[in-house]
Amino acid sequence: MSKKVEDYVRSIPDFPEPGIIFRDVTSVIQSPEGLKLAIDGLTDLIGDTEFDVVVGPESRGFIFGVPVAYNTGKGFVPVRKKGKLPCETISADYELEYGTATIEMHKDAITPGQKVIIVDDLIATGGTTEAIIKLVEELGGEVVKVLFLMELEGLKGRDKIAGYDVESVIKYP
Ligand code: PRP
Ligand code: ADE
Repeated sequence: MSKKVEDYVRSIPDFPEPGIIFRDVTSVIQSPEGLKLAIDGLTDLIGDTEFDVVVGPESRGFIFGVPVAYNTGKGFVPVRKKGKLPCETISADYELEYGTATIEMHKDAITPGQKVIIVDDLIATGGTTEAIIKLVEELGGEVVKVLFLMELEGLKGRDKIAGYDVESVIKYP
């Protein structure tokens, strides 16, 4: 029987801290079949939604966001950890399942009225995505869809971004 994308995800207990089950995507992308299933799965979730650009966060969001942008003939805007982008930026602080961080986006990356699809590997608490949405909207962009390869439903990240069109390829209870 053919494998599903979830068959390629490796789950590591107690990484990076006790109590966290780490859902590892390196095992997905190192397999040609796993990589194709993941990118095709994300691209399929776009359906007939019209949009202008894909936005994704460092670093795992880059892995999945860029091929989705390429597949759909759009550009990609990187959201980076603090201090990495060379031009004028806007920033947002947020909390993670483990720790806190600051992300930045170039001020000229989104033009007012642009329709944005956010792509990331995983939603846990939703803190990263909430911060990305804040940045996109600060620049006048409209978030029309938010896509994840994996969703950790128990952490209720969806509730933090209620009102947005959120879809994921794999759901973990
Ligand atoms: C991970 C993951 C998501 C985020 C999800 O990234 O890739 O972006 O955490 O967590 P949240 O829903 O609780 O915000 P991380 O910040 O660990 O960076 P990395 O991709 O560079 O490993
Ligand atoms: N990022 C935040 N929580 C995570 C988890 N449980 N597995 C993989 N990446 C994560």
